[in-house]
Amino acid sequence: MSDLNDLRDTYLAQISDAADEASLEAVRLAAVGKKGEVSLKMRELGKMTPEERQVAGPALNALKDEINASLAARKTALIDDALNARLATEWLDVSLDGRPRRAGTIHPVSQVTEEVVAIFSDLGFAVADGPQIESDWNNFDALNIPPEHPARQEHDTFYMHRAEGDNRPPHVLRTHTSPVQIRYMSEYGAPCRVIAPGRVYRADYDQTHTPMFHQYEGLCIDKDISMANLKWTLEEFCRAFFEVDNIELRFRASHFPFTEPSAEVDIRCSWAGGQLKIGEGDDWMEILGSGMVHPNVLTAAGVDPKEYQGFAFGMGIDRLAMLKYGIPDLRAFFDSDLRWLRNYGFAALDQPSLHGGLTR
Ligand code: PHE
Repeated sequence: MSDLNDLRDTYLAQISDAADEASLEAVRLAAVGKKGEVSLKMRELGKMTPEERQVAGPALNALKDEINASLAARKTALIDDALNARLATEWLDVSLDGRPRRAGTIHPVSQVTEEVVAIFSDLGFAVADGPQIESDWNNFDALNIPPEHPARQEHDTFYMHRAEGDNRPPHVLRTHTSPVQIRYMSEYGAPCRVIAPGRVYRADYDQTHTPMFHQYEGLCIDKDISMANLKWTLEEFCRAFFEVDNIELRFRASHFPFTEPSAEVDIRCSWAGGQLKIGEGDDWMEILGSGMVHPNVLTAAGVDPKEYQGFAFGMGIDRLAMLKYGIPDLRAFFDSDLRWLRNYGFAALDQPSLHGGLTR
């Protein structure tokens, strides 16, 4: 009997020492496997006398049951330990904040366009639109630029293709937003008060010119509109846009075929220390072209120049963005470089409004 007790102690100790399922299986085979020590002992029962067997049989069975129960318990414990170890390494704090995901940014051109729209909406201007591929008539002729006019060459126009034998003048990528004047007046007549932001194209490329850029057109037609209204409107715009009270504008006589008289407008500024300050200093920077809409343009758009008159102007949106937000190179606007966009872009919820302020 005492050797059964030794067996029992040995195997129960080995079972509780087994560190993983593989070593536990090895203990099982050694004890109660086909050739295990306990199994071999059971085979010896046959050689015993009936009296001996009556004692040894139940004792061996009890030992076998005890070892099997211990094996099963150890196995469950090992599986639990393994699971707990995994849970300890794979734990997850569900109360943690989510990982921030990079959101896109609003391009300065879009931002400035929104700012311009907000200011002019406040002044009672509607927003008009026109196609980027424009007829030769709307881009030039109707704007008092006849076919041989030098302004056609000055604009470095991109021409669309016409089929062979088709002698109609080719369409163009519009060289300015002024054709929207024609479209708008032809459709809605006068009086009108609109701005028309959009893309325009000229074959030009350097630090301050890209073949595609953005302008917005202003047009105000009624029975008693004068240059004084133009001046007030532009000053009001610059005050709101640059968020500077003491704006000073200089109207310089100029020439555009579609306005008479025409003026280029400069804004007083300072470049002291390489930094641009609007409204102070002794420098002047050109920001737009403007004038009183030429009677030929009104006529071409179906508006009677004896009854109506008004002003128009065209301003570069990209240029406004460069000035307001201190962006040095225009070409980078259209490189789609994410580093540039993250640096100069605006948050999506940062909507410009006159009451909230127009800057970030
Ligand atoms: N279309 C002119 C340009 O692109 C600007 C302009 C618009 C001038 C309206 C006068 C009136 O340079």
